Amino acid sequence: MATSKEYRLGPATFPRGWFIVAEASELDRGPMAVRYFGQDFALYRGASGKVIMLDAYCTHMGTHLTASSSAMIVQNNQQIEGDSIRCPYHGWRFNAAGAVDDIPNLPGPCPKVAGLTSYPVREVMGCIMMWFDPEGGEPLFEPPFLQEWDNPRWVRWQLDHLGELNIHGQEIIDNMADAAHLGPTHGAPCEWFENEFRDHIYIQRQGGYHQAYDCMLTTTTWYTGPGLLLSKQQFGDVLTYELIANTPVDDGVSKVWHGCISPAAGETITDADIANAREIQAGALQAFSADFEIWKHKRPALRVMQMASDGPFLKGRKWFSQFYTEKSKIGDIQQQLNGNYHHQHLPAPDDKARQLEVGLFD
Ligand code: FES
Ligand SMILES: [Fe+2]
Repeated sequence: MATSKEYRLGPATFPRGWFIVAEASELDRGPMAVRYFGQDFALYRGASGKVIMLDAYCTHMGTHLTASSSAMIVQNNQQIEGDSIRCPYHGWRFNAAGAVDDIPNLPGPCPKVAGLTSYPVREVMGCIMMWFDPEGGEPLFEPPFLQEWDNPRWVRWQLDHLGELNIHGQEIIDNMADAAHLGPTHGAPCEWFENEFRDHIYIQRQGGYHQAYDCMLTTTTWYTGPGLLLSKQQFGDVLTYELIANTPVDDGVSKVWHGCISPAAGETITDADIANAREIQAGALQAFSADFEIWKHKRPALRVMQMASDGPFLKGRKWFSQFYTEKSKIGDIQQQLNGNYHHQHLPAPDDKARQLEVGLFD
């Protein structure tokens, strides 16, 4: 395990961007205590359905707002009022913006300084995503969304919760430039390869014969910011989108989720379609697990001995550093990098391979 400082990513310890903090269905069980970016947060769904994320600790005496299961206000299901939440200790009420708007038995206005930070949160594709920015402020870009998520012919994912790994996000994102690992690690040596940087988006296009699937595999994979990977993949008659999400828990520790959505054979989803989609997700997870096992046991690559047989790792690392730098410097990094990068010994994807991404980035 190594830290952001050791990778020399920039002044921040944690990157800015959209990150998964829970699967939406987890909130059906009530408010959650979550920890990311070396901080504790209170996460809950208000009565309106809106999901709210606040700093965890009550300003009165430091109680964690969502870590009590035995306080009577929690047991009686009275903690949530509208989109506000009451502290389980003395009942101070925090609204969705984080302000204290009621202190039991205290007439008059509540102190403004008692407020907590409320973080931007979105519910996207069955995931709760938060915008984290070490400098604070509003989101600089939107989280990704697949149109197919709303198509009644597509089977939605149920996420694999892969837990916490002692690995820095840098090592996970290195995979995007890593043309040379696709043969040894995945049994699918790539026959074409390309990376592209578009501001906060990092794209990989590749394809080749896949040993386990016994057919050609074509993929277009992209990060939207530092924590959310989506990959459109086609092999044989299978089409699927894979999600791999990593969120820093502490410096050098990442929490990881995985899922796939796949289309039904007919106009409506049958049990057989669901079973098929789960099987595709399990197959993709198996492939991903090969990366995982390597990451788990490797020493950190604080420096890469880059060869002509490698993809543009160092450019990928520069792209990643934009999320650790001051906002004022992001534009410079993006301007330096934006464009397509080709591997010295592999051709770029042809028009047929590029068909896979028609409409993806519009
Ligand atoms: S500690 Fe939260 S209301 Fe007292
Ligand atoms: Fe990989």
